[in-house]
Amino acid sequence: MIGYGFMGRMHSYAYRVASMMRELRHRPRLSVICGRNRDALAAAARSYGFERWSTDWESVVSSPDVDLVDICTPPGAHRAVIEAAAAAGKAVVCEKPLASNYEDGRAAVAAVTAAGVLNASIFNYRHLPALALMNQRVRVGAIGDVRLWRAIWLGDEFADPAIPFDWRFDKPFGGSTILDLGAHMVDLARLLVGEIDEVVAQSTTFVDARASGAESTSQVTVDDASAILARFSGGARGVFEMAKVCVGRPTDFGIEVNGSAGTLIWDFSHLNELWFASDRDAPSDYGRRRIRAEHPSHPYAAHWWPAALGLGAETGFVNQICDLLERWPDGPWTPDLDDALRTLAVCIAMERSAETKRWTSVAEVERGAGPA
Ligand SMILES: NC(=O)c1ccc[n+]([C@@H]2O[C@H](COP(=O)([O-])OP(=O)(O)OC[C@H]3O[C@@H](n4cnc5c(N)ncnc54)[C@H](O)[C@@H]3O)[C@@H](O)[C@H]2O)c1
Repeated sequence: MIGYGFMGRMHSYAYRVASMMRELRHRPRLSVICGRNRDALAAAARSYGFERWSTDWESVVSSPDVDLVDICTPPGAHRAVIEAAAAAGKAVVCEKPLASNYEDGRAAVAAVTAAGVLNASIFNYRHLPALALMNQRVRVGAIGDVRLWRAIWLGDEFADPAIPFDWRFDKPFGGSTILDLGAHMVDLARLLVGEIDEVVAQSTTFVDARASGAESTSQVTVDDASAILARFSGGARGVFEMAKVCVGRPTDFGIEVNGSAGTLIWDFSHLNELWFASDRDAPSDYGRRRIRAEHPSHPYAAHWWPAALGLGAETGFVNQICDLLERWPDGPWTPDLDDALRTLAVCIAMERSAETKRWTSVAEVERGAGPA
């Protein structure tokens, strides 16, 4: 495990409970966790249940007692670890976004492809029961042809100008807000609706410098808020909004898909519920119904507690890690890093559109072409 912060803790939790939630042929062993601060790292190793810790990630990734390298560092640090792990023949699990820029993402995919190692990107939302059910309902045609996509993610993480500078405000290393929140939103859009051809975006930054020491400030290079229009290859149209300066809105993430025959709506604050409306509903039932994605017939639900006990956001991580471990060591693993690269390309197109104030095609990013 590389990184012991928020996601290092979350992934460790997922590996630890995986064999309680799913019958697995191979039980994961948490062998070694890496970071830079010895005291904090030693405490994390003890608390998360790792056998040992190390401040030298480069020697750890080629260690004989390691089969899988799980990367939970900021985006700008992903590529180097992926390349080293792949060169050592280890399987790779990496947090989103794949990288903070397209070139690093492409190099990371080239490394795992050349090495032929199993690889996966963590997209935990698509592994939540209600969103897996939403995908299943779209797949079986429950809402007809998808016409409109809407995703909104409002948070207050950057609302206070007194929050000091850290990697999240540094675009070259931490990636933009479009990339951070957009990676999840675009992953779900691609899963539920299909590929995105082109986008037009606007971004803004309200607090452009933050304290980085007692008497110094650093320039903020990320967006505080962005909004995007998208055109999907299949003809659907989409809207995305992501912002980290919305006071009193803690990760208020919601998505909606409108099809020719119905609507599906999901809201993170009620994460086990899915709203469904169908044009086949009797006029007396006009509106929408609330489905509780807790029935044993629903995706993932049977692995968890009986209906009504409620599941939290960690469920998405545990479900994804279980899916990967269930397919160890043969695979296939999905979504893989190549899939994450396509999501990255869409996010980079959004960033580029905001900079150039024009519709921008995803193909332009993938070709490596600069702005016209
Ligand atoms: N899937 C999700 O829902 C989700 C949620 C939050 C974060 N993330 C992603 O997980 C990754 C890590 O985010 P986090 O919230 O755990 O961050 P964090 O700040 O809590 O932890 C980051 C870890 O990386 C290490 N680190 C920090 N700066 C570093 C540097 N300059 N070089 C090397 N290592 C460094 C830290 O010591 C720490 O162990 C990011 O890619 C982020 O986008 C995903």
